[in-house]
Amino acid sequence: MRSNKSLQPNGTKPAKTQPPVVKGSAAVVLPWTLLSSSSQQTDRLGQALGRTLRGGETIALYGPLGAGKTALVRGIAQGLGAAPEAVTSPTFVVIHECQGRLPLAHMDWYRITSLRELESTGVMEYFSGQTVTAIEWADKGLALLPQDRIEITLSHRAKQSRAIQLNATGPMSGKVLARTRQAHRRMPNKISNKKRITKS
Ligand SMILES: Nc1ncnc2c1ncn2[C@@H]1O[C@H](COP(=O)(O)OP(=O)(O)O)[C@@H](O)[C@H]1O
Ligand SMILES: [Mg+2]
Repeated sequence: MRSNKSLQPNGTKPAKTQPPVVKGSAAVVLPWTLLSSSSQQTDRLGQALGRTLRGGETIALYGPLGAGKTALVRGIAQGLGAAPEAVTSPTFVVIHECQGRLPLAHMDWYRITSLRELESTGVMEYFSGQTVTAIEWADKGLALLPQDRIEITLSHRAKQSRAIQLNATGPMSGKVLARTRQAHRRMPNKISNKKRITKS
């Protein structure tokens, strides 16, 4: 006699818990949360992300002051092959551009007070073409962000420790995130400065 142990009371098989798959993409898109215990680890994550970008991606960064948003962007820039010194805290300039194997527009919307003000700075022009945009305080202009984007939320856990959650909101960002996870797993824990700058 066949066992029906795995059947529900109504005779159907229990639903397997499958992660959601983004339509049109092979990438499985799940929020990915990790704990960073040092700014070097945050940098390493940024580098893994920077290495996997293909151009045109938007990275929306959330989290309070000192959470590590700029530190992460510095890693992204390095992963793109740009010099780390190129990334500073752009709080007073809204947009700061640097060039690696792809152009990177680093934005900080902290001081933005309205969507109209944000639009007047011309940020929308960066959302088409090959430029990668990394936006600190992206919550100030949610309505202007492209629908398909990588969202990264950083939060303090302790003095040196941060929880970092990465999420993809569409197929392009889903693929990037899947590749980033692989690259991050394969990356050595300590990367020499030389490698950081020259490898893309
Ligand atoms: N795990 C960590 N990840 C990122 N930064 C960290 C971490 N631990 C300590 N820090 C420190 O926190 C600060 C983060 O600053 P910054 O990146 O400018 O934050 P934000 O841009 O979010 O305001 C830096 O001084 C950095 O050295
Ligand atoms: Mg910052």
